[in-house]
Amino acid sequence: MPVSRLITTRNVAAAAVLAMCLPPANSAAAQSASQPLIVAICAPCHGYDGVGRDVQIPRIAGQSAIYLKAQLHAFRRGARKHPDMSMRAEDLTDRDIDELAGFYAILPPG
Ligand code: HEC
Repeated sequence: MPVSRLITTRNVAAAAVLAMCLPPANSAAAQSASQPLIVAICAPCHGYDGVGRDVQIPRIAGQSAIYLKAQLHAFRRGARKHPDMSMRAEDLTDRDIDELAGFYAILPPG
């Protein structure tokens, strides 16, 4: 097989793989799957990007999901206390915590 033909075939395969990996741009479905609605509660302080909005607010983007879950559970049951966080964590369900931790964990740490 001529080399040029090989390269073409490989490029096509690479493009196909790339197309499967890329999220559809601005797709509402992709958006809601990856960004739980409840993030709206956290965003005023942590942002949608997980970067704290002031120096007292820790950056949570890219933090391990296991760690984030553990902290949210600790705030919820009162083992870790902070006036801002304890109040917000109180009403989170296990599923909310899983989704929020998953969402912030995959963001670029910045
Ligand atoms: C009013 C501002 C505010 C809101 C709203 C808020 N947080 Fe926080 N969050 C903070 C502050 C301040 C801290 C630092 C607490 C401390 O010093 O112990 C914190 C800490 C955390 C931590 C621990 C980070 C670490 O490094 O240990 C996590 C996880 C977290 N927040 C997630 C959330 C999530 C998820 C929500 C939405 C349900 C949320 N926060 C809503 C202000 C806020």
